Amino acid sequence: MRKKIVAGNWKMNKSLSEAIALLEALDDSYETYATEAVEVVVAPPFPYLFSIKESVRNKNIAIKVAAQNCHHEEKGAYTGEVSASMLSSIGIDYIIIGHSERRQYFNENSAQLKNKIQQAFSNNLTPIYCVGESLAEREANRHFEIVEQQLTEVLAGISPQAKFVVAYEPVWAIGTGKTASVNQAQEMHAFIRAVLQTILSPDTAAATSVLYGGSCNAQNAKDLFACTDIDGGLIGGASLDATQFITIIKSF
Ligand code: PGA
Repeated sequence: MRKKIVAGNWKMNKSLSEAIALLEALDDSYETYATEAVEVVVAPPFPYLFSIKESVRNKNIAIKVAAQNCHHEEKGAYTGEVSASMLSSIGIDYIIIGHSERRQYFNENSAQLKNKIQQAFSNNLTPIYCVGESLAEREANRHFEIVEQQLTEVLAGISPQAKFVVAYEPVWAIGTGKTASVNQAQEMHAFIRAVLQTILSPDTAAATSVLYGGSCNAQNAKDLFACTDIDGGLIGGASLDATQFITIIKSF
């Protein structure tokens, strides 16, 4: 009953023509991987969102489009920022919120992330909320505590009807080629579901897709996606190549 999702986080990569070419490649083989069972999402950089969304509409394919971030306020004098309502006005479907790169390089904290999540909800966008521990935190055996804190501080108190996705992305696995083992990932995903059950409700915990991210690729996706509590992936590097990304989608 939970949605299976494979989302490609393009981060700060590609020119407009390269981004369009990647979408064209996903469109060309669409029939080979598109199924009702798996939702495919791409998260291009801000300047390309409108064009990519228009292309998806014109091609009439079911690929969803995500933004990689939004501002935590509704609107106003925030030079250089993008609001959730702007994203909604161009038809964006999802917003990645709290990616570890934003927490690390832009000092995003739980209070801001909570507001970003609220902005997403108010504008009918589905947040993909990222959590995950650093290497030092895992080595100190604090990974469960950290992830529980990230979930509780940001998600506790949201409306029971709110729809969102969680992505577990251990920071030590992002872009490092070092994937969490199937056991490490499944164990954390089951833990995340247990926390959602406590802070929200059993129904929400059962209905929320929890994605794995961190060096997920065409080789390891099948084993990861076979786990009971892993509902798909948030893919960085491997989503920049259509062939690899499609292989990951087909891993279900
Ligand atoms: P990666 O990135 O697949 O390149 O490790 C994942 C992410 O940061 O979303």
